[in-house]
Amino acid sequence: MKKPPSLTQMIVPVGASMRESLRIIDRNACGIAFVVDQGGRLKGVVTDGDVRRAILQGMLLEARVSDFMTPDPVTVQVGTPVEKIIALMSERIRYIPVIDQDGRVVDHASFTHHVHLPVAGPTFSGNELRYVTECVLKNWISSQGRFVSEFEAAFAKFCGVKHAIAVSNGTVALHLSLLLANVKPGDEVVVPTLTFIATANAVTYVGATPVFVDSEPETWNINESQIERAITPRTKAIIPVHLYGHPAHMDPIMDIARRHGLRVIEDAAEAHGARYKEMRVGGIGDIGCFSFYGNKIVTTGEGGMLTTNDDGIAERARVLRDHGMSKAKRYWHDVIGYNYRLTNLQAAVGVAQMEQIEALLNRRREIHNAYTDHLVGDPRVQLPPQAKWAERVNWLYTILLKHEVDRDRVIAKLKQAGIDSRPVFYPIHTMPPHAQEGHFPVAEDISRRGLSLPTFASMGLGEIDRVCLALKSSLQ
Ligand SMILES: Cc1ncc(COP(=O)(O)O)c(C=O)c1O
Repeated sequence: MKKPPSLTQMIVPVGASMRESLRIIDRNACGIAFVVDQGGRLKGVVTDGDVRRAILQGMLLEARVSDFMTPDPVTVQVGTPVEKIIALMSERIRYIPVIDQDGRVVDHASFTHHVHLPVAGPTFSGNELRYVTECVLKNWISSQGRFVSEFEAAFAKFCGVKHAIAVSNGTVALHLSLLLANVKPGDEVVVPTLTFIATANAVTYVGATPVFVDSEPETWNINESQIERAITPRTKAIIPVHLYGHPAHMDPIMDIARRHGLRVIEDAAEAHGARYKEMRVGGIGDIGCFSFYGNKIVTTGEGGMLTTNDDGIAERARVLRDHGMSKAKRYWHDVIGYNYRLTNLQAAVGVAQMEQIEALLNRRREIHNAYTDHLVGDPRVQLPPQAKWAERVNWLYTILLKHEVDRDRVIAKLKQAGIDSRPVFYPIHTMPPHAQEGHFPVAEDISRRGLSLPTFASMGLGEIDRVCLALKSSLQ
């Protein structure tokens, strides 16, 4: 998100010309400026539209702003509650001057910066624009070009794996992984019921059936002690998910998989950089899958990555993502493949994101700690899980509300204060495409009480104060 303009960047003196007004509007990039007299008192606002209309009426760039401004704009008094400010905002009114008792402009409210706080968002503070521009200028916009292989190399190094294969999103990374694990129609795959639906959907893409397992309370991830119960002669793989950035308990899972001859596909879509003991997630199972959707820790808009230490799996993955085309003979296809490629444009963003990955993770850690400092000891909330053996990452700061709290009411109250939040996923066994009988009390409880608060690297600590204040007041 771009930085909010300072108040001085929003001010036009009432004696200014149209040219000067335009220059100020151009610099603040808000499409509006506040017109004030010498005492700082608000006289009106001037917008792009006011200038356009003035020019169409024949006014010159030397005309005074007072001759074409909007003289009685929407304003708010200092101390107006945020809900009231939001109610005044619309597509047309996105910036409102805040005035004191003497009519002086002392602040401004902007929908994007002061009022609306999204639950997640990308942070582009490095070379993203430069690299994308290079793709456009050099015409390398599809999946050929230097950035795809650079992104793969940077990601493999980051995860400590031999191979990273870029694909179009996290869901197709899961689909390819299941094909690579030779999961066939009629087979079964063990998955946690508490995850995003893509984990289970991908299993159905290869004609197999997801078999659900409950969560365990310590990490909210698949309960490893219940996996063996779910294994049948048809089981081919297990997909542990590192939910909300916390690693699943991989040692016992790997042990079960080896004993039963199963493949392990890590769904690390939400956990870039998290460590299980010493190892980064994505490099512990046979295959790792990542998502680069816009709300993820590293984003390319849409995008995904498949990671593996197995040379054979990596080679087949590269063929399958590219229509099954032979690497030795162009336009020769030995197998049915897919177009699951990532574009050079997306990879360009990915390379720039990977250049800042440690800073992005650190910043998210600071945000995690700031939330925890505010909420620790509050009996109405339970903090995000943190197992001793894990180094979690902060994808979305997610808490559990006390049983008797009405979560929908809390979400609505936060919304009134301009703060987006989101409920934890519904357990997949409860939804029509995957309805399954079973006893999943932990997943159901986390799903019912879980609430994710705004978490993105460009958040200020002041915004966390604001969220926690609004949260605490919504819990009263
Ligand atoms: C756990 C999990 N798996 C898979 C996916 C799918 O990734 P994508 O949206 O990139 O297809 C997501 C998120 O979007 C996810 O959270």
